[in-house]
Amino acid sequence: MKCTAIILAAGQGKRMKTKVQKQFLMLQGKPLLYYSLACFQKSDEIQEIVVVTGKESIDYCRSEIIEKYGFTKVKSIAEGGKERYDSVYAGLEACSADTDYVFIHDGARPFVTEDIIKRTKEVAVTYQACIAGMPSKDTVKIIDENNMVSATPERSRVWSVQTPQVFLYSLIKEAHDTARSVSMQGITDDAMVVEQYKNTPVHIVEGAYENIKITTPEDILVAEKILEKIL
Ligand code: CTP
Ligand code: MG
Repeated sequence: MKCTAIILAAGQGKRMKTKVQKQFLMLQGKPLLYYSLACFQKSDEIQEIVVVTGKESIDYCRSEIIEKYGFTKVKSIAEGGKERYDSVYAGLEACSADTDYVFIHDGARPFVTEDIIKRTKEVAVTYQACIAGMPSKDTVKIIDENNMVSATPERSRVWSVQTPQVFLYSLIKEAHDTARSVSMQGITDDAMVVEQYKNTPVHIVEGAYENIKITTPEDILVAEKILEKIL
């Protein structure tokens, strides 16, 4: 069974507001993107990696990250697109034809673990679609267009979604193909594409509260602390 990981690193990082794109910010002497690549490189569950990045960063990724740290599973570097789903699609197209399962992972999410990869894979192999997430710590409100609360979902049923999101390759590729021919409006993760265009239920398993996405400046402080703990 061949499993390919698509690592997304083609975003602009607008909310981080740094000059260097957040996926390349240095964390304990290594670029942020290094950490997720290192985990997928190490995991026995993964045979191949596709890195997706901006055209201007392809050379940097190749020489300063992939070659420098010996990420031998990286088979190709694809050029990302304007939206995350465009980058995902570029990654899907760059996967080897014999890929059975694909792990879609945010390059800005450095603390994924081999256990999370194992857990999501096990369920994806049985049910075709499995994403990582964690129960929401906050009560969540649904609001209307006037910022008025219109509903409060039962907290125990609300989960924050993370990556990796793992799918049977043919399922996610077909779902993206269909979605692209209809509308990608409002699509924020890959599970949504499957939920909307396929009859396959998406399973969710626990990721970790440490499996944060680096999004705004204070996330860097948290990341430094998490790294101190795990290194
Ligand atoms: N991503 C991507 N291509 C895009 C947009 C996002 O590959 N066109 C990647 C990012 O590099 C990141 C992941 O998707 O690893 C999650 O996206 P997000 O946290 O939104 O990152 P950015 O889009 O870079 O940040 P922002 O939304 O603040 O601009
Ligand atoms: Mg974004």
